[in-house]
Amino acid sequence: MTGTTYIQQIELMQRTLRAETGLSANELQQKYLGVNGAFTLLAKQITEIDPGDRKVAGQPLNNLKNALATAVAAANNPSVKAWVDLSLPGRRPAVGHVHPISQAMAEITKIFTSIGFTRARYPEIDWDWYVFESLNMPPDHPARDEWETFFVAHAPDEKMGQMVLTTHTSNGQVREMERLGKPPIRMINIARCYRRQQDVTHTQMFHQFEGLVVDKGITIQHLKGTLDYFAEQFYGPGTKSRIRPFHFQFTEPSFEVDFSCHLCGGTGCKFCKSGWHEVGGCGMVHPNVLRAGGIDPDVYTGFAFGWGIERTYTLKEGLAIDDIRLLYSGDLQFLEQF
Ligand code: PHE
Repeated sequence: MTGTTYIQQIELMQRTLRAETGLSANELQQKYLGVNGAFTLLAKQITEIDPGDRKVAGQPLNNLKNALATAVAAANNPSVKAWVDLSLPGRRPAVGHVHPISQAMAEITKIFTSIGFTRARYPEIDWDWYVFESLNMPPDHPARDEWETFFVAHAPDEKMGQMVLTTHTSNGQVREMERLGKPPIRMINIARCYRRQQDVTHTQMFHQFEGLVVDKGITIQHLKGTLDYFAEQFYGPGTKSRIRPFHFQFTEPSFEVDFSCHLCGGTGCKFCKSGWHEVGGCGMVHPNVLRAGGIDPDVYTGFAFGWGIERTYTLKEGLAIDDIRLLYSGDLQFLEQF
């Protein structure tokens, strides 16, 4: 055999070795460096080459053998990370992000705290007193039917009544009056709420935010101004609010709140109703509610508003989510879009 043919065989072997991605270090050792290994057999053939060419022809084989032997030794040494090619580009670790509903909660908090509201949080399992009765809804009042309530199996309290999962964030109203003792009150309460309902547009657990302002001389104008401010901050400049007469037991007068559609500019599109979105409720705090919180309604007045975060958020993004339950599915393919 000539030196050149010998070197060609070594090069062929080197290529074969590179393609051996499926073999472990020990399998490679056996296949190439063992008694009958490919390198061992090739090394033996060196005797067939002219003595003068042996040195030049043998060198590449030795290099290859040594490289493989070093790699095999390193792979078997647990303290060395073997087969690491430091020149390979790194693998980016997956980076998560804040859940869209948490993003919306942070944004709403910022909008209201920047005009002097204080973020409050109250129990999500609360007494009937705070969820209904102190809000001017005595036991057996028909208005309660609107809040499809989950009751908690817990002994009722004589004054507080039964325990329920909070059906709205309005349970924070009287609690905040009690916490502060007296006005001024400017509260933004954001919390989970629960209702006995589940379909493509409702989840049994959802989120609401509630505003409450009580002070001397508070009027509907303050309420309307606050709604307009929120509309512009959250949905963008030019967005307006609209209030329509409605009924709630805990506000008088009461209104439903609409925002002008920021997607079509109020002209009407597939996301809105003739240029408007219905979002929630509001009104002037009922004197009985102020009394329940120990505040004299002859001295102080206030307004309150509240609605769901899920809807507020999906409207903002112009998201036509067919099934709102997707928001809580933990499905990364869905969540990674936001
Ligand atoms: N709590 C009411 C609801 O869940 C909304 C509301 C809050 C209405 C505050 C008036 C004042 O529908």
